[in-house]
Order: sequence, then structure tokens, then C-alpha cells
Amino acid sequence: MEETQKFHLRCEKCQYVVSDFKEWFGSMQKCPKCGHKVVYAEYSKDISTLKDLIEEKNGKAESVFHYFDFLPINNKENIITAGEGVIPVEVWGFLAEFAKKYYNLDIEVWAYRNDKNPGTGTFKDVAASVAASVLKENGIKEYAVASTGNIANAFAHYLAKAGISLSVFIPQDALKANEAEVNTYGQRVNRVKGDYAKAKEIAAAYSEKHGILLSGGNTDPMRVEAKKTMVFEWLRQMKKLPDVYVQALSGGTGPIAIDKAVEDLKGSGIEAKLPRFILVQPDQCAPMRMAWDNAKAKNFPEGWENNYPKLENPVTKVPTLATGKPGTYPIIGKLTKKSNGEIIEFGEHMIADISRLIAYIKHIQVGPASAIAIGGFFESLHRGIIKNGETIMINVGEGVRRSPEFMEEMIYTTRNVSNIDEVERFDRNMYAEQVWKPFIDYKK
Ligand SMILES: Cc1ncc(COP(=O)(O)O)c(C=O)c1O
Ligand SMILES: [Zn+2]
Repeated sequence: MEETQKFHLRCEKCQYVVSDFKEWFGSMQKCPKCGHKVVYAEYSKDISTLKDLIEEKNGKAESVFHYFDFLPINNKENIITAGEGVIPVEVWGFLAEFAKKYYNLDIEVWAYRNDKNPGTGTFKDVAASVAASVLKENGIKEYAVASTGNIANAFAHYLAKAGISLSVFIPQDALKANEAEVNTYGQRVNRVKGDYAKAKEIAAAYSEKHGILLSGGNTDPMRVEAKKTMVFEWLRQMKKLPDVYVQALSGGTGPIAIDKAVEDLKGSGIEAKLPRFILVQPDQCAPMRMAWDNAKAKNFPEGWENNYPKLENPVTKVPTLATGKPGTYPIIGKLTKKSNGEIIEFGEHMIADISRLIAYIKHIQVGPASAIAIGGFFESLHRGIIKNGETIMINVGEGVRRSPEFMEEMIYTTRNVSNIDEVERFDRNMYAEQVWKPFIDYKK
């Protein structure tokens, strides 16, 4: 009776219709017909009604569930929310002025402030709120997730709210503060001796052994459906879509979700063109960047998307982005190409410079993964891959709350004093030159 249902899931490979999450979870998140792991949600509601939601015709947006009609939950009583998803998109004029002054480009630069998400302060909150709601609706009591860090925190928070026990599997190098936060919610952390790939392996074995559902990763329909709302939010707040989307890249749920949103918007009466993706990896863990450059140099030969390095135990200052074995590259590589985009890297030795600059100018503290994305903007200017007239959206994915060590790297104004004679008066403006300098000099 698929016509009368609110939504169903469709297998990407064989087109089999999975009627609901009960069936999807029942088959351990594999297509019951062909075993494929990627399905996407389709809705019975007329897509043209999305325009009314975006224009707030029937009420103000208060969380990601403003888009309830196009989220895979049947009953509003199951919604688990902390008001995530309706975070600000802001014009960051100082970056546009910089682009004008040093690169002679007239562009608009926007920041998508995921650090302001009220759940756990990252752009994983929307995914976790929708997942918690779907899991609650389907009577799930135990769940598992492998994560480099932020998804673990978000799931820990929202699943606790839903009364669901969560087993988290994090790699050895995951941030201490990530581990601590998951603990505070009374969820179980399994810190795995090894890298993220190893954490995923043990999580999968745990799931198999006890028949416990494991988060489906970057293509999980709950996560993709949640994150697609970022496109709706840009339309709601900016009244247009950006030409370029800049995101720090680990597995790549963001680009997958944007592509899904643009597909969904077809037939809605809203014109939606896929933004060019500029996906940024930290230079010490950049397997997708390596694969991309290699494919590009050979002019994308047959099967290029299946050719990518698998880095063992990557050592990076940005553990949240430490996906050394990027199983999603076949999807992300193709999406990047489809969008006419690029996969680039940013030198992680400069992330404190980025966060210092942003804190000096905007008075907000951005975390390591956000700094990689913003750094990617400077790298893009340097490489000439941003064009005159374009509107750029930078995903500011997190604040600094999980990176106290990183905060310490930002110290630059301190003077150690032992008596009043050693204390100087100062003018805050004296630091402007210093915080901008690394970017004025960037790769010169
Ligand atoms: C703040 C932040 N930005 C970006 C990413 C990368 O996200 P994705 O897995 O969609 O590539 C992460 C992943 O953990 C993150 O926490
Ligand atoms: Zn199938």
C-alpha cells in the first residue's frame, strides 16, 4: 500500500521498495532483494508543499522537524529534538573583502553555523535527532555506532533522550573530551586499539554477534534525510542556494545529503542547482584528495572512482576527520565530479591560525574540523578555483568545546608578569596584522 504511506525506502541498485524502517531494520539495513546497503527515502506528499515550509507559510521553523513532511518519521509524538537544525547562516563579509583585496574577486561568503546547534554543538546534531526519532518510532532499545568523534557525541545525547542504550566505538586517537561527553550521558564507550577502520570492524562484529543495529554510516537514510534539510534551510534563510559549498571531509554525508535535497527539489517549483563541492581534508589524512588528484591527472579513466589509497592509522591533529580508508570515495568522488567540484587539502599546521583569525574578527571559536573547512576557502582562493561573482557557503561544523588542547594553541596575547612595572597597556587593534598575516602570505 505504498501510495497511502507517508514514505518508503527504495534500493538504489535494484529499485526494490522497502516499505518502512521495520522492514529495513529487520533485514539488518540491507536490501531484502539484492543485499545492497544504499536506499533512499521517497515521500508521498506533494513536493510542491515544500515551498510553503521554506517560506514559513504555516509556521515558524523551530527545529529540523519543521520539515517533518519530508522526514522519514510517521508520528510527531516520536520526535526527539533539542531545537537543532535552524542555526544561522551568516554573511562573513571579512572573507569577501579579503578575496577582493588580495585576489580581486567579487564574491559573497556565508558561514553555516553548525557550532550553534543546541544538542552537542556540531553538524551531527540534525542527523542524531532524526535517527533517535526514527529508532524510537520503531521500538529500538539498543543501538551501536562507530565514529571518529562527533557523531558519537550527537548520537549519545539524542539516543539518551530517546531512552535508547548506545554502544560507541571510537578509534584510539579520538579526543578525550569526545569520550567524556558520551560517558556523561551514561552511554557506553568502547575505545578501540587501532584506527577508525578498526573501530568500524569491531562495531560491525558486535552488531553481528548480538543482532544489534549499527548506524549505517554516511549513506544511512536517517542521516542523509536529516542533513538534506540544510539545503532547505539555506533557501529559507538566504532565499537562494550557494554556488559553492565548502566542507571538511571525512566520510562525506554532507555532499550526499545535498545531492539528495537537490533531487527532491525537482518538481517543487524551486530552482535548485547542485553547488560545486569543495571538500577539504587535513593534509595528514587526505586519502580522498590523493585519489582525486590521481584520477584528475589521468583524466578520470574507466573505474577511477574505485581507485583510492587506504591509509593505516593516520596521524592527524584533526581526529574527527581521520577516515584513512574512505569506503565512500566511489560515491563522493563521483558527486564531486558531477558538481564540477574539487577535493583539496589544507595544511593542518595552520588550523590554530584560522581559529585565531575567526575569534579575533567574529568573536567565535571554531574547532579543528571547522578550521580545515575555512582553511579550504583560503586554499581555494590560492588555487583560483573560486570564480568571480560566486556565492560561497562554508560549513562551520563545530566549535571548540571538545578540543581544549587546541584552544591552548591559540594563546598569543599573554605576557607573564611579576610586578606592575612589567604590565603594559595595549591596543587590541595591534593584533589585526598578526592574525591576518598567515593568510596574506599564504603560500607566497
Ligand atoms: C565538524 C565536522 N565537520 C566535518 C565532518 C566531516 O563530515 P562527513 O563525515 O560528512 O565528511 C565531521 C565529521 O565528523 C565533523 O565532525
Ligand atoms: Zn536491492
